[in-house]
Amino acid sequence: MSKIDFFKTFIKDRDVASVTPTSLHCVKKVCTNIDFSRDIVLVEYGPGDGVFSRYVLDLMTPGSRLIMIEMNKDFYAHLKKTIPDPRVEIHNARAGDVLSVLNPSLIGKVDYVLSGIPFSFLKKDRKQIVLKATKTILKEGGLFLAYQTSGHLKKPVMEVFGNLETEREMLNLPPYLIYKVVKNGQLEES
Ligand SMILES: C[S@@+](CC[C@H](N)C(=O)[O-])C[C@H]1O[C@@H](n2cnc3c(N)ncnc32)[C@H](O)[C@@H]1O
Repeated sequence: MSKIDFFKTFIKDRDVASVTPTSLHCVKKVCTNIDFSRDIVLVEYGPGDGVFSRYVLDLMTPGSRLIMIEMNKDFYAHLKKTIPDPRVEIHNARAGDVLSVLNPSLIGKVDYVLSGIPFSFLKKDRKQIVLKATKTILKEGGLFLAYQTSGHLKKPVMEVFGNLETEREMLNLPPYLIYKVVKNGQLEES
């Protein structure tokens, strides 16, 4: 999708929350947390036009799986049309629906949840629903990786997961704070 089309989608839908896709620099930085040398199950919330999805698919093993959950119908249609990959499942749904969307056999088996959804737009109880569902689908030691415009997610993440690390990425419009959170892990807040 062109940057103009991405911008048009943003104009029509405030939940898109960004005028342009994430920069490749930022995509690479977030993905340094992912071990691509083995088969993994990765769930992506809010893939948009697929800038992260394409990057991870290039690196993922043939036995890995990517499950995308995108709320916007235009992005969903674009992803369905342009990513014909047998490792991929694409759902037109909300992140909060992940427990009903995901194959039950994968609950508690997910290695990574990658999220670009604007959590700041969600009410407190909706944030909790998404974070708790995320914790449920992750395996022990699995990572929740989220890129957000600010530190607003620290408190809810600490309440649900009890740990986090953050790193600022300025080479993006807007600048992002990258969250790295472990299910039942030992990370300390930075
Ligand atoms: C900031 S954009 C990020 C798009 C893309 N991942 C990127 O990095 O360029 C946020 C994306 O999340 C989607 N989105 C917003 N709220 C969502 C929700 N509750 N569930 C699923 N997708 C959501 C939007 O439609 C949009 O595609």
